[in-house]
This record gives sequence, structure tokens and C-alpha cells, in this order.
Amino acid sequence: MTLANTPSLHNETARAFLRDAIHGLTGARKSLPPKWLYDHAGSALFEEITGLPEYYPTRTEISILRAHAANLAGYISEGGALVELGSGASIKTRLLLDAGPHIAAYVPIDISAAFLHATADDLHTRYPHLAVHPTVGDFANPIALPAALHDLPKVGFFPGSTIGNLDPLDAIALLVRARAWPGIETFILGADLVKDPQVLIDAYDDKAGVTARFITNILTRMNAELGADFDVDRFDYIAEWNADAAQIQMSLMAQVDHHVSLGGQDIRFANQESIAVSQSRKYTMDSLENLADAAGWAVHEVVTDPETNFAVAVLKAQSPV
Ligand code: SAH
Ligand code: AVI
Repeated sequence: MTLANTPSLHNETARAFLRDAIHGLTGARKSLPPKWLYDHAGSALFEEITGLPEYYPTRTEISILRAHAANLAGYISEGGALVELGSGASIKTRLLLDAGPHIAAYVPIDISAAFLHATADDLHTRYPHLAVHPTVGDFANPIALPAALHDLPKVGFFPGSTIGNLDPLDAIALLVRARAWPGIETFILGADLVKDPQVLIDAYDDKAGVTARFITNILTRMNAELGADFDVDRFDYIAEWNADAAQIQMSLMAQVDHHVSLGGQDIRFANQESIAVSQSRKYTMDSLENLADAAGWAVHEVVTDPETNFAVAVLKAQSPV
């Protein structure tokens, strides 16, 4: 199969996916960008992860947001807009919207288009007076915010510790771009904190195997959208804690020496060779402050759960943009 006759390459998304996949799988160390985990099936699998007993981040962050909802919603000016990166099911957002009836507009930004639009429809029903502007976009690139909201004061919201899925330099670049949004006042950032490695391993390698299905879905997606011929049974999911980088590393390890066809390329997998699919960086108060500082923000306030498993940080621009 050649690139030109690979099925389903009728849109820009599929072409970008193929470029990333070939680039990542033909390098010295095989890898795939985690953003491609989130097709509709991937988004639904992530929602299933959030309810797992081992996956503490979601319920912990929700408990923090619930306890501090009025305070956090108070950072959004009367008639202002909340702009969320990687909004997913927007469940945490609803805590801020419920505590902030003065919020005029909400901009959920996500790469998972169908899931985003279904969520936005639900929000329209729940909050009839809120202007909801679903925006499909890749937060690794500059995002054009809706022109109608140009003059509104804005607060950025990036919960979930999704920032931990970015390489450190990409995380800084994202915060630098957010600081240049017109009208930006504050940025509310959710970050998972360093803790007992076994707790982390369990959270990313659950007994029910949902995380394994979520990560393996990237192979299924390449088969469906890029005409690849991965045999998912030839790969095992592995979660490891890298203490030096303070991150969980999620990979798929080939269990047999074999070849896969992708976009006209023949890709060889040696037995026990891995594809690095995602990382999930964990922060300390110091590394969180360093991240903010490197991007021109200052940590104004941090709220955590009583066990300090997870932090919600309120960032303010260090100086006017
Ligand atoms: N904010 C939600 C969802 C987190 S899951 C929560 O806290 O529970 C991560 C979300 O980010 C998913 O909805 C996924 O589709 C989205 N996402 C991942 N990479 C992205 C990218 N590069 N650009 C935009 N959205 C992305
Ligand atoms: C979306 N993101 C913050 C999740 C995390 O915890 O890193 C993605 C995830 N990957 C496996 N489990 C959850």
C-alpha cells in the first residue's frame, strides 16, 4: 500500500496522524504522540478510567474544585469567559459554572471533535444562559479563540493534569501562548503531585485493564484510519515510573519479532521492542513554580486535597503582556 492509496486519508487530520505515526515509528526509539489516543472510543475509555478505583486524580481534583468552587469561580470577572484546554466531558467545569452564574461564556477546546460537540450540546441544555463556543483544536499549536469573545476578560482552565502529558518544553510553550490570549487575567492549572510510586503504577495499570485498552486503542485507530495492520494481541501494555523525570511512562511492547505495514512503510518490531505512547509527569510545589516561572506566570495560590495528592494552582501573569 502506498501513501497515496492508503484509505481514509481524505482529511487533514488523517494526514497529520499518518505523518506523526510514520515519523514516530521509524525513528531510533519508537513513539507516538498521546494526542492520537483521543478518537471517540479513546475519549470514552478515558472517561471509564476516571471512575476506576485506582485512578485517584479525577476524584481528588473534583473534591478540590468542589471545596474551592466559589473561590476559584471568583477569579472570573463578571461577564467574563472561561477557556478550557482539553475539556473532555467538561465535568469539572460544571463545578465552576455552578459556582459562577456571572460567567458569560465558556470555550471548551479539545482535539476529540465528536466528543467535544456532544459535550457542548449537553452544556447548552444545562446552562441555557451561557454562551458555549466549542473549539476543535490542538493545544500544542496556537489556538484562535472565538472572535466574538475578543474583548471579554478571560480565565484559562487546564485541569486533569493533562499538562503532565506534554514534554516539559511543550508545557512551557503552551503556558506562554495562553499568557498572550487577549483579555487573559488568570490561569487555573490542575497538576498531579509526586507520591508513592506504587500508587502511581496502580493508577496507570489498573486491574480491570481499562488503561491497557485506552493505550492500545491507538493501534486500533491506526488500523481503522490509516489502513495499518497492527495485530493488537502482539503487544503488551507496560506502565513504569521514571523517578529521574518524575513521570509515569506508558508504552506498548511487542511480544514477538514481526512486521507491520503503515502508509506504504514496512515497520519492523523486534521482540520486546516498545512504542512510547504517553508520559504523565508528576509535580512538586517547586517544579510547579518553576514551570509557571519559565512561562512568565507566577503561582498566586495553590489548593490541594488534605493528603496533597493533587494541586490546583492559580497563576497570574508576572507582568502585563
Ligand atoms: N479535562 C478533562 C479531560 C482530561 S483528558 C478532565 O480533567 O477530566 C485529556 C483531554 O485532552 C481529552 O479530552 C483529550 O481529547 C484532550 N487532548 C489531548 N491532547 C490534546 C491536544 N493536543 N489538543 C487538544 N486537546 C487534547
Ligand atoms: C489526560 N491525562 C491527564 C491522563 C493522565 O493521567 O495522564 C491520561 C491517562 N493516561 C492513562 N491514564 C490516564
